[in-house]
Amino acid sequence: MRRAVMTGLGTYVPERILSNHDLERMVDTNDEWIVSRTGIRERRMARNDEATSDMAVHAAERALDDAGLSADDLDFILMATNTPDTVFPSTAARLQARLSERPIAGVDLQAGCTGWVYGLAMAASMIEAGVYRRILVVASDKLSSITDYEDRSTAVLFGDGAGAVVLEAMEDSPYGILSSYLNADGRGADLLALPAGGSRWPASKDTVDSRLHFLKMSGNEVFRFAVKAMPDAVEQGLARAGLTVQDIDLLIPHQANQRIIEAAMRHFDLPSSKVIQNIERYGNTSVASIPLAMDEARQEGRLQNGSLMVLAAFGAGLTWGSVVARWGGCQ
Ligand code: UT7
Repeated sequence: MRRAVMTGLGTYVPERILSNHDLERMVDTNDEWIVSRTGIRERRMARNDEATSDMAVHAAERALDDAGLSADDLDFILMATNTPDTVFPSTAARLQARLSERPIAGVDLQAGCTGWVYGLAMAASMIEAGVYRRILVVASDKLSSITDYEDRSTAVLFGDGAGAVVLEAMEDSPYGILSSYLNADGRGADLLALPAGGSRWPASKDTVDSRLHFLKMSGNEVFRFAVKAMPDAVEQGLARAGLTVQDIDLLIPHQANQRIIEAAMRHFDLPSSKVIQNIERYGNTSVASIPLAMDEARQEGRLQNGSLMVLAAFGAGLTWGSVVARWGGCQ
């Protein structure tokens, strides 16, 4: 049986830190509110001249290095982002040009914060079908480029970062992606959206004056969706792999709000030793939040050869989903 195995993992976060105390000087907020409502203490901010593809290059090079490969070994680049360098062409194309002189097929996918899970699931299907052997799945978002730092309800939440994995086809491996579950319900599309700049509402002086090029979110409604979507994603992913919650070594959830993660832990009666949380230091980095958490878990020795992990996410769309995978197969 052919499986997609994660043979390399790499991440990147910008150097600049924006703390809650920095935000207190920018909007009407305070450290106590942010920590108690979200769990966030600080987040990383890309430089003005650092775009989504620039962060993606670092994460991709680290993942390739981890896999002992060069970009020339890749068959496909699947790039998850909500903040592409430009509306078109794809950021995958720009990334390919930075990584290799050889042409490599690639495409962007946009699935809100669920983009990482969508990317892994789609790449695994392409590998299992025998169409490609080595796919680089990349997640990079510069949310600071679409965050309104005059709107306290969103300004405190988001940070920038990137992650990447190399997925390789392996026959009869005990490791790799065991199952996935993807879903979307567009009736909630306007609950979390960047209103202007697309074909519905092209850029104009009015859209700029009305601050419509910044993301808008109905936080409470997204929160209510998220506390249902996260358990659904975990349960459906596990069921498709023929596993149960008792089999989980690590739940690596999208880091959007500590209270959403804690609700999932209570739902499944999971101890904190089995759940990766790093929202405190990075905030919500959208597509990058799960790979950043995976990388930290690995460095801390919590993600080990043979660990059964469930990656679960939700986000704009509304989208949600999970990937169940057994870690191992890296060099
Ligand atoms: O990854 C993409 C998906 N996004 C999410 O998962 C986000 C989901 N939503 C959330 O995480 C939460 O809804 C938020 C963190 C965004 C907001 O937390 P909340 O507990 O739902 O707060 P709220 O929106 O109900 O606001 C409570 C109060 C309000 O004041 P009043 O009306 O009670 O006087 C807000 O105006 O807190 C106020 N508030 C703030 N106060 C200080 C809102 N933002 C802030 C702030 N600092 N930054």
